[in-house]
Amino acid sequence: MKIHEYQGKQLFAKYGVPVPKGIAAFTVDEAEAAAKKLIADTGSQVVVVKAQIHAGGRGKGGGVKVAKGGAAEARQLAEKILGMDLVTHQTGPGGQKVRRLYIEQGLDMACEMYLGAVVDRDRRRVAFMASTEGGVEIEKVAAETPDKILTVHVDPTVGLSSFQARELAFGLGLMKYGKDTVGKFVRLCAQLYDLFVKEDCSLLEINPLVVLKNGDVVALDAKINFDDNADFRHKVWSELRDDDEEDPVELQAKEAGLNYVSLDGNVGCLVNGAGLAMATMDIIKHAGEKHGVAPANFLDVGGGATQEQVTKAFAMILKSPKVKAIFVNIFGGIMKCDVIANGVVAAAKELGLEVPLVVRLEGTNVELGRKILTESGLAIEPASTMADGAAKIVKAVSQQSKGGAA
Ligand SMILES: Nc1ncnc2c1ncn2[C@@H]1O[C@H](COP(=O)(O)OP(=O)(O)O)[C@@H](O)[C@H]1O
Ligand SMILES: [Mg+2]
Repeated sequence: MKIHEYQGKQLFAKYGVPVPKGIAAFTVDEAEAAAKKLIADTGSQVVVVKAQIHAGGRGKGGGVKVAKGGAAEARQLAEKILGMDLVTHQTGPGGQKVRRLYIEQGLDMACEMYLGAVVDRDRRRVAFMASTEGGVEIEKVAAETPDKILTVHVDPTVGLSSFQARELAFGLGLMKYGKDTVGKFVRLCAQLYDLFVKEDCSLLEINPLVVLKNGDVVALDAKINFDDNADFRHKVWSELRDDDEEDPVELQAKEAGLNYVSLDGNVGCLVNGAGLAMATMDIIKHAGEKHGVAPANFLDVGGGATQEQVTKAFAMILKSPKVKAIFVNIFGGIMKCDVIANGVVAAAKELGLEVPLVVRLEGTNVELGRKILTESGLAIEPASTMADGAAKIVKAVSQQSKGGAA
């Protein structure tokens, strides 16, 4: 789960990590009032208006602007940025609509760096990464000049040692700003590690982390991803979640208690059991690779799904505009085939079935399930095995694209 920069900075502040003064704003009036308050509090006319979306690269895309002319200029910038479709290298071509702003004190920095922490699965440790190449796309630095990224791995039984943080500080050349700055950086690293572990982060990035002219070290940006598996022990996450930034179909699925992940392909999949769902995706990909056919989603309705949940799941697939055919692949164990069949029929009756539907049913109550499907009058192509189903799905999608928009 991702959160906004301003929420990340609130969390930083809670752990003692220095951040600029800032106020979140949802309207242009609020933005102007925030700028006025910051100017009064700091005595500086410079404020930064920052679009809050769950993607980086906002600066380059025109979503971060500095106002040097006081609150009136900040208002003008807020008018421009609020509501815009902000396109960055992380949003995709459609961009993301800006619904929230963060008005922040403008700071004068001596240098911009990168500092990040991630879970390194291979090493089974949290890795801290730092680079002097802050402010720019760190992915580019990693790809083109990997030697410019310094990495230390944290031993979970000991935690981040100050010698490791000092190693990063020296590598970043912070000695030239004095021992105090090195000390401030080391403290900040310890605070970040504490936050990373206690808040169950999967990724944390500060790009840029800056040294101010007075030697202070401040986080100018904040990106935090939480590990969704720890959801149950962080009640506040539900307040931090911004539904406008989430995939709407995944949200619906979550509400319905379904395991659903949107993918880029064109075959909607309704499967029971995570393993079978993965295998179904694999076989569609395998059979469809040369024909531009791939799964549009991962969906495991689970063993205990009710007919209502199955109906919701099938309706979600039906409503997706990218779905050109649907593959229902069920091995009824705890889940009974008739429950699936009833769900499929109910959703298809409600929403209409305009794409080919291939169904492979096996297991508990399979005869009853098949009977329900046959008697429904829906145009269903039965499949005997998974391979047969995959071949039929590929054929159905290919025929459809040949047939044009019909
Ligand atoms: N409070 C601030 N004061 C001065 N400059 C800022 C401030 N916040 C951001 N900037 C500048 O804007 C750039 C982009 O902002 P950032 O928060 O990193 O957004 P993004 O990474 O999405 O582009 C930063 O690299 C920094 O140079
Ligand atoms: Mg940034």
